[in-house]
Amino acid sequence: MSSRRDPVRLAVRLSLATPLVALLAACGGSPTGPSAGPQPGPDPAPAPVASLRAAAASRGLSYGCAVGAAQLVEDAAFASLVARECGIVVPVSELKWQALRPTEASFNFVGSDRVMRFAEENGLRMRGHTLVWHEALPGWFAGSATPANAAALLDDHIATVVGRYAGRVHSWDVVNEAVEPAHGRADGLRDTPWLRLLGPEYIDHAFRAAAAADPSAVLVYNENWLEYSTSAPKRRAVLELLRGMRSRGVPVHALGIQAHLNPRHTLDVAGLRAFVDEVAALGLQVIVTEMDVTDEALPGDPAVRDEAVAELYSRFLGAVLGQTRTTTVITWGLSDRYTWLNTARPREDGLPVRALPFDQGLGQKAAYQAVGRSLSQAPAR
Ligand code: G3I
Repeated sequence: MSSRRDPVRLAVRLSLATPLVALLAACGGSPTGPSAGPQPGPDPAPAPVASLRAAAASRGLSYGCAVGAAQLVEDAAFASLVARECGIVVPVSELKWQALRPTEASFNFVGSDRVMRFAEENGLRMRGHTLVWHEALPGWFAGSATPANAAALLDDHIATVVGRYAGRVHSWDVVNEAVEPAHGRADGLRDTPWLRLLGPEYIDHAFRAAAAADPSAVLVYNENWLEYSTSAPKRRAVLELLRGMRSRGVPVHALGIQAHLNPRHTLDVAGLRAFVDEVAALGLQVIVTEMDVTDEALPGDPAVRDEAVAELYSRFLGAVLGQTRTTTVITWGLSDRYTWLNTARPREDGLPVRALPFDQGLGQKAAYQAVGRSLSQAPAR
């Protein structure tokens, strides 16, 4: 409901006067609504969102969230909410090396199997995250992986993990966060253990191994920090990486834009629109893979924060959903009850973070309506 019709939202916006305007101006927005798209005229009240899954499906999109296996087992109310609102789930940690590989010679699929079972029992898909990353590596890795054995280690990991779920996953984040122009390489790659062990070819190698293990899976290159006015060098480097992969016939099918959003930084709506169009022109899908909003820089008042968080979701989604090759939106969690930001980005005032569509009590927030409206008003796929 626009603020003109909704006295609470109008009061919130008027009470924001300077702080929110300053914050939104800092990220290129305005308190009068998303800077993307036509300004609302005498708008009809938008239809209520039945669920984020239904809102997405109504336009040929998919929506889902990241979960932990323990959350699904120990919190029945949360598990029911996930089953109602999502069409896809992705394990936060259960498919990372640290969780899967207690030793070099063993695999532990208890957590990932639990998430897959939840998905299949509830008619959801699971996406895999992530086969190659420089973080969440097990303690034995540094002392065991060498340039001589790293390719075999990687091939065995991918064949075993991807093979276990072959034909059953929505998509795989094959390589995560491999680009970092600040590291000074001409190819813009991040200096990681995998680069040092195998050279830049590790990326192509991983995608080819994943395609061999599951020819049906959508294979994704996943990246962070692509959303801001300061992200242009990284967007260029990622495009060059993807362009090269495509020219070498590497089986990459999508770019994952993590979208960990923060009002401290200026969202680059025009830059994002152009970027997703360029990615689509390479013949790739775009998947929003880890969307959430850090509210550390926002005022403590929950109504004020919720409004600003919702506005940022709307502006980001408005920028990327205009490109019909953007097929999927995943939030990095569904409820503030389990957001990683409470530990990773705690607020100075100690208040719980309000980053996601549902609050800690599993009640809908302004972010829920913002994400739902963005999905249901996106161009049909
Ligand atoms: O589950 C164990 C628990 O048994 C143990 O008692 C506890 C003590 O440390 O650790 C728990 O595991 C933690 C895990 O999150 C739980 O999901 C790990 O320590 C912790 O390091 C891990 O952090 C995750 C981080 O990735 C590293 O894997 C965050 O929750 C998760 O939000 C974050 O997600 C990443 C994406 O994968 C990639 N993109 C960036 C994003 C944010 O950093």
